[in-house]
Amino acid sequence: MAGDVVAVGPQVGDFAIGDRVTALAFAGAYADLVVVPTLTASRIPEHADYVQAAALVRSGHVALAALSTAEIAVAESVLLTGAASGVGHLAVQLAKAEGITRVVAAVSTAEKADFVRGLGADEVVVYHDESWGDPVDVVLDAVGGDLLPRAVAALRPGGRLVFFGSGGGTVPAFDLLAGSKTITGLTMARFAATRRELYDRHHRRLWHLHRAGQLRAAIHAEIPLSDVATAHEIIEARANHGKVILRP
Ligand SMILES: NC(=O)c1ccc[n+]([C@@H]2O[C@H](COP(=O)([O-])OP(=O)(O)OC[C@H]3O[C@@H](n4cnc5c(N)ncnc54)[C@H](OP(=O)(O)O)[C@@H]3O)[C@@H](O)[C@H]2O)c1
Repeated sequence: MAGDVVAVGPQVGDFAIGDRVTALAFAGAYADLVVVPTLTASRIPEHADYVQAAALVRSGHVALAALSTAEIAVAESVLLTGAASGVGHLAVQLAKAEGITRVVAAVSTAEKADFVRGLGADEVVVYHDESWGDPVDVVLDAVGGDLLPRAVAALRPGGRLVFFGSGGGTVPAFDLLAGSKTITGLTMARFAATRRELYDRHHRRLWHLHRAGQLRAAIHAEIPLSDVATAHEIIEARANHGKVILRP
């Protein structure tokens, strides 16, 4: 979320009334005014607008946290499910910006395949493709559900999968044993609270890449909060290429 600091109580920390800020609210953000923890609040740099700020801070942090959780090295390969989504399309750009040589984007449709190819993905697969290409070192899974076992199967022996989607999913533990594979869960609320130094470094990295023109949030739609149902229809239809933004 992004907006101005307004006067509702004593000044907190370094913030001043009128500062343009973003924050991860985690809940209760469908409102004109929101109280947020200072932990994840930060000023928006002058070169950025509210829309880019909301998209980058809400979704870019998830992408960077997932890459960090995987402890991925530049020589390794990564496959991203839901690669055209709000988080996924930034993860494609961030993985390339970090120098990862083989970034495989997995999506549900040919239109989304074109979209993620345009973001710099080295390989693109559509879920129903028989093969997802050569096995990868790391999967960042934003989808889960029926796709999770397939995502685990896409890992090479010893590979790591970071799961952060809300789709759940089941994997036979023997598949992990047989391939010496690892699945790690990620929630942003815990990451921001417990890995503060890394979170701050990610924050600087997001804005650095944005300023350098290497990272841009694609905005699928900007919708007024009063029409929030339309935003949910887009997301439920899995129609968005990039981020859907609500405007208060
Ligand atoms: N762990 C955390 O802290 C955290 C933080 C932020 C977001 N998330 C989660 O990360 C995921 C991605 O977030 P986002 O903001 O990028 O989401 P989003 O823009 O709404 O995109 C979600 C994408 O998931 C794919 N998908 C596959 N099966 C789906 C289904 N049955 N219903 C809906 N979508 C389905 C769709 O892409 P395809 O059509 O290409 O499959 C869809 O576009 C979500 O599950 C979200 O809840 C987790």
